[in-house]
Amino acid sequence: MNLFDVYPINPINIVKGMGSLVYDDKGTEYLDLYGGHAVISIGHTNPHYVKRLEDQLHKIGFYSNSIEIPLQKQLAEKLGKISGKEDYQLFLCNSGAEANENALKLASFYNGKKKVIAFRKSFHGRTSLAVAVTDNPKIVAPVNETHNVIFLPWADETALEKTFAEHEISSVIIEGIQGVGGIQVAPVSFLQKIRSLCDGHNAVYIADSVQCGYGRTGKFFSHDFAEINADIYSMAKGMGNGFPIGGIIISPKIQATYGMLGTTFGGNHLACAAGLAVLEVMEQDNLIQNAADLGSYLIEELKKFNKITEVRGRGLMIGIELPAELSNVKKDLLFKHQIFTGEAKPNVVRLLPALNLTKTYADRFLEALDKTLASS
Ligand SMILES: Cc1ncc(COP(=O)(O)O)c(C=O)c1O
Repeated sequence: MNLFDVYPINPINIVKGMGSLVYDDKGTEYLDLYGGHAVISIGHTNPHYVKRLEDQLHKIGFYSNSIEIPLQKQLAEKLGKISGKEDYQLFLCNSGAEANENALKLASFYNGKKKVIAFRKSFHGRTSLAVAVTDNPKIVAPVNETHNVIFLPWADETALEKTFAEHEISSVIIEGIQGVGGIQVAPVSFLQKIRSLCDGHNAVYIADSVQCGYGRTGKFFSHDFAEINADIYSMAKGMGNGFPIGGIIISPKIQATYGMLGTTFGGNHLACAAGLAVLEVMEQDNLIQNAADLGSYLIEELKKFNKITEVRGRGLMIGIELPAELSNVKKDLLFKHQIFTGEAKPNVVRLLPALNLTKTYADRFLEALDKTLASS
């Protein structure tokens, strides 16, 4: 049987990882500034994480949500404390798309309305509602098309106000920093405007924090920079450091009823152990502060390169916009300097490393970039 060929892949077989480094089957070392697409939050094979998963596996890996799973409560408690949202409620699932799917559905259950505002260049996942609010017609199948989604230009307060005046809006879904869209930081005033319009129209503010959340930007949620509380935060990626786990945290004003949401795998013992291990390491090693510090350092240094068109982002979610003629940079970093980075169209190099990146590795990247740009 062949694999369904949907991914353009690099001819590299990674077999081992440790911290911010990964190794291929020939023993070549790579610096991982991509984190497997923002997933590796506390570094590859972190010893505490490995032990917690191993110990849990020896006890029990899975049982369904029909029984008490105290690990879920422990995870909710720790997440509430670290995120500063102690009065929120946690629903666990398995991926970012599923988190957004549940968030949009819950918003509609809550206020009985149908229309959703999403933004140009957004990415929210590939399941039916998540993909319907994603601004990429190529990945929306005819069956996913709906008239319930209104796409607005990014950060356009006038368009937002007008849409609220003309439609019954159920929810607004927005990434605090667009990831796939090319690392576009939502202006603080725009997030505050969404908050006040949602308040005024009984609409639900959904903060997609799948990529920009979980400490990556130097605050737990990038929406925190606007000093507002969203009604629902969706998360996944860094939450399990590679173990598939996602979730939404839900404002106390939205009340649960039995059967409203559900999942077979979500919140299983092993996933909770992974989620707890991540938060324990983040807390113990002060990783959110490290993301803030290292991110500021990298952004400042990157701004000194005159061949770079623009540097955008916060903390360790950084976009390096390059002119079209420098389309070789990402490939050169990988194949000449053994550094994994991400990309966004048309020519943005995306940095999404583990939050415990060190200055030594940041400098290794800056030197390699300097050489790559000099020879381009
Ligand atoms: C902002 C955002 N939301 C949602 C998703 C979907 O997450 P998943 O691939 O886990 O379904 C992604 C994935 O890249 C994302 O970046």
